[in-house]
Amino acid sequence: MKLPEWLKRIFGFLAVIIALFISWSCAYWLTGYVYGRFDVVPHEFIRQVSNSLLGFFIFGCGVYLITRIPWVRARQEKFLHPLINAMKMMAEGNFNIDLSFYTQQMGGGRNEHPYSRIVESITEMAEKLGKMEEMRQEFISNVSHEIQSPLTSIMGFAHALKNENLGHDERKHYLDIIETESIRLSRLSDNLLKLTSLESEHPPFELKEYRLDHQIRRIILANEPQWSEKEINMEIDLEHLSITADQDLMDQVWINLIHNSIKFTPEKGTIAVEAFKKEDDLLIVEIKDTGIGMNQEALLHIFERFYKADQSRHRKYGGSGLGLPIVKKIIDLHNGSIHVESEPGKGTKVTVELKPRQLSI
Ligand SMILES: Nc1ncnc2c1ncn2[C@@H]1O[C@H](COP(=O)(O)OP(=O)(O)OP(=O)(O)O)[C@@H](O)[C@H]1O
Ligand SMILES: [Mg+2]
Repeated sequence: MKLPEWLKRIFGFLAVIIALFISWSCAYWLTGYVYGRFDVVPHEFIRQVSNSLLGFFIFGCGVYLITRIPWVRARQEKFLHPLINAMKMMAEGNFNIDLSFYTQQMGGGRNEHPYSRIVESITEMAEKLGKMEEMRQEFISNVSHEIQSPLTSIMGFAHALKNENLGHDERKHYLDIIETESIRLSRLSDNLLKLTSLESEHPPFELKEYRLDHQIRRIILANEPQWSEKEINMEIDLEHLSITADQDLMDQVWINLIHNSIKFTPEKGTIAVEAFKKEDDLLIVEIKDTGIGMNQEALLHIFERFYKADQSRHRKYGGSGLGLPIVKKIIDLHNGSIHVESEPGKGTKVTVELKPRQLSI
């Protein structure tokens, strides 16, 4: 029969009172016997102190002896065993632990049992560590995959170049591929380093006041070879805007967003970049393209690391799916927000909202 928790507590309390009563009685009789035997009459204060000390001592010995009883030890061990086992499993990297034994023992649900908090915390910790481990594995597998495909191309074409019968044009074509794939690898490592530094406890963050419109214009112009090669019509409408932000990090935001628009917009398409101030001291930058667009499902994932909306056509566009996660991280650091609207085949509109002034992080 299982006793309710409150009844167990009352019994426990009574047991302690009885044990204290017995210990102090023993101490009283023992000291009385010793004083009688040696015929001494100590001062009342000495009597009280020696009684208390002996009482505590007897109580301590009693508790110690009880914990030595094999039945009590077995019960304690049986109770602690799953907990110790769970800790061992976690130390070995296995976070799939099952502590349902305690839920049964404690009568299920949340209760006041002193162990219930510990069990809850350990279960929560195991769940969080398990999720982190899953993310770590996924990250490693993504990185390996991203490294493997350009490496395979490089190895294949380097091997093909050994063939002495290759014509000049073929040789040049293979070398171009090797160069492109090497640039891809280098960008991947660069982006990984950027993301790691942004996710560190103290990311680089240096605030300074500068002209946001100048920054965006400079980046659009720096990318002119790419958009003019595709004969993209670039429409620029930038108001005079000042911002206090980390200029290098914000460079990265506009570079990544403009690169995406250029990359995913077919020849003779249009990209419109607008920057303006909204009445309540909010700076808005809109980058709108008439590119391939994305469906609603893709929009839910674009800020996840390594996500690419169109896997089948992705080889054509290149990239590792780290651009937007980096953008999001930088905008979050600036307490801003980013919003993407898109329709397949019609185009994409990215809206970034930023506060003109930042508080240091
Ligand atoms: N302007 C856009 N038009 C259409 N699709 C886009 C656009 N911007 C992003 N996407 C989709 O979102 C995905 C994630 O973008 P992200 O910038 O993170 O990665 P990437 O451009 O593929 O690679 P990277 O930026 O690392 O070179 C892209 O692969 C693409 O499918
Ligand atoms: Mg990108």
